[in-house]
Amino acid sequence: MTENVKFGIIGTGGVWRFHKLGAKNHSIVNFVSAYDVDEKNLQKTAKYSKLTTYSNLNEFLKSDIDAVLIMVPHYLHKELVIAAAEVGKNVICEKPMATTLEDCDEMISATRKAGIKFMIAENHRFLPAHQYIKDILEQGYIGEVFLGRTYEGAYATPQFFDENYWHFTFDKGGGGVVMDQGVHKFTMLNWFLGEVDSAQCWLSKSLNSPPSKAEDTAIVLLRYKGGAIITVDISSSTIHPLTNRTELHGTKGSVLEDHSWNDPVQIFSSHPEAEVKGEFFSPKIEHGPFPEYYKISMGHEDAYFARCILEDKKPEFTPEEARTGIAVVLLAYLSAKNGRITSMDELMKIYKTEGTKNIIKGVKEVIQQNYGEMNWEI
Ligand SMILES: NC(=O)c1ccc[n+]([C@@H]2O[C@H](COP(=O)([O-])OP(=O)(O)OC[C@H]3O[C@@H](n4cnc5c(N)ncnc54)[C@H](O)[C@@H]3O)[C@@H](O)[C@H]2O)c1
Repeated sequence: MTENVKFGIIGTGGVWRFHKLGAKNHSIVNFVSAYDVDEKNLQKTAKYSKLTTYSNLNEFLKSDIDAVLIMVPHYLHKELVIAAAEVGKNVICEKPMATTLEDCDEMISATRKAGIKFMIAENHRFLPAHQYIKDILEQGYIGEVFLGRTYEGAYATPQFFDENYWHFTFDKGGGGVVMDQGVHKFTMLNWFLGEVDSAQCWLSKSLNSPPSKAEDTAIVLLRYKGGAIITVDISSSTIHPLTNRTELHGTKGSVLEDHSWNDPVQIFSSHPEAEVKGEFFSPKIEHGPFPEYYKISMGHEDAYFARCILEDKKPEFTPEEARTGIAVVLLAYLSAKNGRITSMDELMKIYKTEGTKNIIKGVKEVIQQNYGEMNWEI
């Protein structure tokens, strides 16, 4: 058995830096080569990261690598995942899985047919603070969750104002903050709480970004089949370093989590076996505010995927599960267009008839334009 997994990367843009830094503590992850259509990005990254470069996709895919890490614009995820699977490479692809449910289905069937390991790089699934919350939920420390709220806020970069840059566009990004950041929250919440019953969503633009760009701010209200009602607040135009927050309240206690805290979790539990009773307590968890939590979560994520390859086991975080996050993204957009609470059953009816490709059409018309009133500067 080899001691490490040789990864080739596709896409040498912004997120690569965090995967590279994350791998520093995980010798099982060995990044060896890179492919990118942007020769300048490719050469710059390869020099900095000491990678062999390829300008031809087929040569790259057929080279001596065990796995491919895909980090490209969202509309390209499907075709590159399938291309890598078809030559027998294991694939880990950045979130969001794809921009439609049909693309997710094609990815699932192609990777299954190829018999390779396939996982979506949803780093929130590999953040120790989130794993801790999942564990205490399973152990019953806060009982049945009936209420929650979660937030992700990021500081926009000048690229938000570049109409030719794909991030947050309707066509290449598949939408704005709901697709780009919301998917993190939805995938995490589905992991904690199960299946979504219905949603209500409002979209707005607080940045004076070009018309090709979708919403930068949103609120999504979710009702889970188990009964929990949750608020998801997301924005890419908040003026603070990137952070996330989650609050869950159950029949036996509450858990608060904030990525910007050094000790990211606080629990109040009335469970008979709770470590501390009558007050909030903070367990020791591997963590650090941005950019530390990025490095930690991506390091664990890539190392876990490498272990799945070496030990020939199916990743616990399945593509089917990642697909449920995309379903909630699309449900939120559908609800914003409907201007009312919309059920998952309604989304599934569309999926089974005309398909989900057109859900993004018409979203532009329902985005509230706030920026005229705001004095927002980058
Ligand atoms: N997990 C996270 O928190 C997180 C954070 C940032 C980005 N991401 C995800 O990572 C992915 C990439 O985002 P980014 O911010 O690095 O984007 P980016 O624009 O900075 O980089 C994308 C790279 O892909 C290359 N590319 C474009 N088309 C290509 C093609 N056909 N073949 C090969 N390379 C191609 C571009 O030249 C560029 O170098 C997206 O899915 C994004 O949502 C995840």
